[in-house]
Amino acid sequence: MRPNVASRRLGSVIFRRYRDGMTIPAPLAGKKALIVGIANGQSIAAGCAAALREAGAELAVTYLNEKAEKHVRAVTEKLDADFLIPLDVREPGALERCFAAVTERWGRLDILLHSIAFAPRADLHARVTDSSRDGFLQAMDVSCHSFIRMAKLAEPLMRDGGTLMTVSFYGAEKAVENYNLMGPVKAALEASVRAIAAELGPKNIRAHAISPGPLLTRAASGIDRFDELVERAKEHSPGRRLVTIAEIGALAAFLATDAAAGMTGGVHYVDAGYNIVG
Ligand SMILES: NC(=O)c1ccc[n+]([C@@H]2O[C@H](COP(=O)([O-])OP(=O)(O)OC[C@H]3O[C@@H](n4cnc5c(N)ncnc54)[C@H](O)[C@@H]3O)[C@@H](O)[C@H]2O)c1
Repeated sequence: MRPNVASRRLGSVIFRRYRDGMTIPAPLAGKKALIVGIANGQSIAAGCAAALREAGAELAVTYLNEKAEKHVRAVTEKLDADFLIPLDVREPGALERCFAAVTERWGRLDILLHSIAFAPRADLHARVTDSSRDGFLQAMDVSCHSFIRMAKLAEPLMRDGGTLMTVSFYGAEKAVENYNLMGPVKAALEASVRAIAAELGPKNIRAHAISPGPLLTRAASGIDRFDELVERAKEHSPGRRLVTIAEIGALAAFLATDAAAGMTGGVHYVDAGYNIVG
């Protein structure tokens, strides 16, 4: 492939200009992407949004509430995205209103990124054995079932196929100390990705779980002794380092392109290899 020397924008479409003067649309030019999960510039969703935009996609971005809006706008302004939608998935009707806004503005959707998680602090800090029914259900609702609901609402908008992505963690597969009830919740999320991939595959809608190594984000700061998890990943991952949100974004952008058309239903690690170490 020729080295990419410059990106330029014509209207809302990003083009790539190569050294030999050839200009072609970026791989996701004209694609519409809904990004759920930016809290600030450190969010995994912020890295994914930047990579999807760089690859040419147009973005719609949600924010949790009024307090969060200015932090989200600080990110979206740099991404040339002015389509912001309020969304708290716990609020009845909010997800339907979010998709109605997408339908009204675009009439279709090509890419969905679900990058949200929540568990009540007391349950997150307790053993799984001690987790409360209510805490477990809240964590499942926000962190897992919301992805299923988004897939359902995205399905009729992805008439030409599409890509659904969510963000998981190694704790879905192994009992990771202090990850507690998020382990079973992420396991359910990964199983949901497989079910959705199987069900929507015939419509050319693909589903993926991206599984990053630990990163210091706001959500991660809620996990007890998260700094120890970070140190372990730094010391024991084959790469001896943490990953960046740009690296996670690069994977998300790849999965959304036609280059990944043959892939669906998988859990894709981007963790400097931490998951392969015994
Ligand atoms: N940071 C890590 O180490 C790490 C590793 C693997 C997976 N993940 C996963 O990545 C995803 C994104 O987390 P992050 O680390 O970028 O943290 P973050 O705090 O930046 O993002 C979490 C997002 O979830 C949103 N959210 C929470 N409750 C919501 C609700 N009710 N409705 C709508 N949005 C809601 C928040 O507004 C925030 O934007 C999560 O699913 C997390 O479990 C994180």
